[in-house]
Amino acid sequence: MTKEKDNKKNLLSRRNFLKGMSKGAVTAAVIPTSITSAETRKTIPDEKGGVDKGVVNLAVNSKSYKIEVEARETLADTLRKRLNLTGTKILCNYGSCGGCTVLLEGVPIYSCMTLTMDVNNRKITTIEGLESNGKLHPIQEAFIEKDGMQCGFCTPGQIMAAAALLAKNPNPNLEEVKYGMSGNLCRCGAYPKIFDSVLSAAKEGRR
Ligand code: FES
Ligand code: FES
Repeated sequence: MTKEKDNKKNLLSRRNFLKGMSKGAVTAAVIPTSITSAETRKTIPDEKGGVDKGVVNLAVNSKSYKIEVEARETLADTLRKRLNLTGTKILCNYGSCGGCTVLLEGVPIYSCMTLTMDVNNRKITTIEGLESNGKLHPIQEAFIEKDGMQCGFCTPGQIMAAAALLAKNPNPNLEEVKYGMSGNLCRCGAYPKIFDSVLSAAKEGRR
């Protein structure tokens, strides 16, 4: 086999591997939705004939973007480095903390474990997309009121998970809040106030 064919084979194997990783992480985050959109993806061969880039259409916070991304690029990197939406944080960067949580059509996902190519033509909401007309989302207000944070690094991910939880279950009890937020870790241990913030937002019907 020629070196060129070897390179191409390695690229495709790596991509399949990453796709598998991405789907696995999505499942771990209790997400039932398939995010594969290969049928609509347009790939571009690189100089050596390999396929490592593609043009994707992203709908982020009600704005449309058409950008070229590398096959290995994660949604977290695209949001932060390409779209300048730095509210989404990258903490562990391997799918264990939930700090990078965003909503994919209303479902919380780990954006550090999601390939941008796999969310082609899908609707994404980040922490920046929660406010409306310059006014914070009621869940954001509840986190401020109840002091639901310490260092704040995990907070955007916590708030996105809370928004998804309350959209699905408007009146959760404490156990349901703990379960619903269990994909999001807080290394400061601010859990009591985080849970209190979510319960407060639910109690006030503020979601
Ligand atoms: S930064 Fe994505 S799960 Fe930790
Ligand atoms: S508030 Fe510091 S990690 Fe959660």
